[in-house]
Amino acid sequence: MLAYTYIKKGEFKLTEKPEPVIKDPKDAIVRVTLASICTSDLHIKHGSVPRAVPGITVGHEMVGVVESVGSEVKKVKPGDRVAVNVETFCGECFFCRHGFVNNCTDENGGWALGCRIDGGQTKYVRVPYADTGLNIIPDAVSDRQALFTGDILATGYWAAKIGDIGNDDTVLIIGAGPTGICTLLCVMLKSPKRIIVSETDPLRCDFVREHYPDVEVVNPLETDVEAFVKEHSDHGGADVVIEVAGSEKSFESAWKCARPNATVVIVALYDRPQVLPLPDMYGKNLTFKTGGVDGCDCDEILRLINDGKIDTTALITHTFSLSEIERAYELFENKEDGVIKVAVEV
Ligand SMILES: NC(=O)c1ccc[n+]([C@@H]2O[C@H](COP(=O)([O-])OP(=O)(O)OC[C@H]3O[C@@H](n4cnc5c(N)ncnc54)[C@H](O)[C@@H]3O)[C@@H](O)[C@H]2O)c1
Ligand SMILES: [Zn+2]
Ligand SMILES: [Zn+2]
Repeated sequence: MLAYTYIKKGEFKLTEKPEPVIKDPKDAIVRVTLASICTSDLHIKHGSVPRAVPGITVGHEMVGVVESVGSEVKKVKPGDRVAVNVETFCGECFFCRHGFVNNCTDENGGWALGCRIDGGQTKYVRVPYADTGLNIIPDAVSDRQALFTGDILATGYWAAKIGDIGNDDTVLIIGAGPTGICTLLCVMLKSPKRIIVSETDPLRCDFVREHYPDVEVVNPLETDVEAFVKEHSDHGGADVVIEVAGSEKSFESAWKCARPNATVVIVALYDRPQVLPLPDMYGKNLTFKTGGVDGCDCDEILRLINDGKIDTTALITHTFSLSEIERAYELFENKEDGVIKVAVEV
């Protein structure tokens, strides 16, 4: 089968590989029907994910059909349509039992698929711990509707959850990339009083204005965001800030726009260490929450999609076939043609 493979820093290539087989009784083999490209795939390509193993098939955001299962798999069976979780987790260790599945102590725990073990930008993928790593897609939910369940939607859901958002709150989301918009959709479910989105790309600002007209949009390249947030909130700053941009200025913007005693959720990953200037923050009494996504609410996410409460289909701005994946990466990486997400049909 053709598999999009991490060759070395700076190089991904479609290569011919044998189809995967079950190695452990808890594994399943999934026939991928639709995959996507994530910003983290680009981080692997650029060599900024040291754990990524050259030679692996990339891709950790996909849906498909269960082809076969190991003898200890109970939840899924051949023929089930499933969303694949970016996280591999045993479900039994201390961290899994507390919902911190990103820190599962299994040797393949956390983000393994498409990073340390073969992922899903190909025809078949082996999913370890299939009972926790796969979620059955309700019949009424299409592949395109379910595509982001296991990665960026799980991330947005987790970010909104740990943000502890109340109905009187003003929530600031920094960055309206695919993950920022998924975060926005999940924040909307919490019904805060106000949502402000800060985004530097005018096309993405327009996307948010067009699709989510109740949201205030501010572009830091045109407007002083700190002043804007102060003006559009009740207590001198946002009650909750979720930083989903990960650029040079966005971390600083996150804590500066927060009111005293606010919660600041850092979803973004940075290329460089960020400065926490504690003397300047003295008296602000902020709570920072950071981390890799704990993707343990995917059944709930699929239920919300099924009920029409979350719809991410507008994010799929472009569709390619697996044979065109090179071009799909080029477009996604260079943010050409107003791209937000690409779907890759296998
Ligand atoms: N913690 C996790 O588990 C997890 C999971 C998924 C993604 N992420 C991270 O989330 C971040 C966003 O992911 P994405 O796929 O949406 O990436 P993206 O690069 O498409 O989105 C970032 C957006 O932020 C905007 N931006 C840049 N600087 C800004 C600034 N100063 N103010 C406002 N907006 C600004 C960009 O224009 C872009 O639209 C990345 O850092 C990614 O690595 C983390
Ligand atoms: Zn990802
Ligand atoms: Zn575990």
